[in-house]
Amino acid sequence: MMLRTPPMGFNTWNGFGPDIDERLLRELADAMLEQGLKDAGYTYLVIDDCWSQRQRDPVTDEIVPDRQKFPNGLKVVSDFIHEKGLKFGLYSCAGVRTCANFPGSFGHEFLDARTFASYGCDYLKYDYCNVPHTHDGPLLYRKMGLALRACGREIVFSLCNWGMDETGRWARSAGGDLYRSTGDIFDSFVRVREIAMSQVENFCYSAPGCFNDMDMLTVGMKARGNADIVKDGSGCTDAEYRTQFALWCLFGAPLMLGCDIRNMDAQTKALVTNKTLLAIDQDVEVRGVVNASEEREDKPAFFRLLSGGKAAIGLFNFTEEASEVWLPTYNVGLPDG
Ligand code: GLA
Repeated sequence: MMLRTPPMGFNTWNGFGPDIDERLLRELADAMLEQGLKDAGYTYLVIDDCWSQRQRDPVTDEIVPDRQKFPNGLKVVSDFIHEKGLKFGLYSCAGVRTCANFPGSFGHEFLDARTFASYGCDYLKYDYCNVPHTHDGPLLYRKMGLALRACGREIVFSLCNWGMDETGRWARSAGGDLYRSTGDIFDSFVRVREIAMSQVENFCYSAPGCFNDMDMLTVGMKARGNADIVKDGSGCTDAEYRTQFALWCLFGAPLMLGCDIRNMDAQTKALVTNKTLLAIDQDVEVRGVVNASEEREDKPAFFRLLSGGKAAIGLFNFTEEASEVWLPTYNVGLPDG
């Protein structure tokens, strides 16, 4: 699999956590079409953690879809997702158990890759909880990378070890198509800013074939769902969601939505389908971003070269006061005046 541009889609975790089932997946697939998300480029519909039975099948050793949530299995789910022209993603973990304590793929990598392929899986997010300390993390990702390569189906490999062991340096050789570079996002602007600013210098590894994944978007969540970890019900303001989406697009990061796309308000829908921002995110050259500001943390001024001799500039004021934000042209190598 060679992704030319960062993947775009929807992941169940931020919005729904463990509360997932076949009916929800059908509604989300419908929403991706009805809300114009598919037309805007969002094609992956990914089921995150909590989709399986608590234990493997005692005879076949296979992971088994939860019988209550998915009574007809996952092939049926992937079939209706494919019928809509979308792609189907799943979740597993390099450890013995997933982060929410379901069976992980440790020691079962090749079996699980074949099982996921038999469901018609197109994308695997591979987490990093409950990994035995005796084992080398990067090696476990390489192992699943090999297993996916051997499973008979093209499956996008989404590494999720939160940037441990300098993931960017080896994600590509492990067979990764994207790699999570930070811990989990929450529906709070403090966390959004922290994640984005921590990755400014790390985009040298992000390029066609393997992208830096700053985690799923909380845009439009408005403190509903599973990512409102602060549980104070505040979420982000519309301006903060606009800032988040602009940052992710400017950086050329994967765009995985998490809000309830069945009930998006007009602002959220307009934001996540904004053609200018999406064109920047999906620019084929995928060049890293530079912070050219002299006040780097509070008033970053990002500059990114795009294809066709174009450039994107993003000026941000993270302080509480209105202020001008400067991008000195000499800092990005442009002649002054
Ligand atoms: C970890 C990952 C999250 C999510 C949860 C599921 O925390 O980083 O993105 O997949 O596990 O349990």
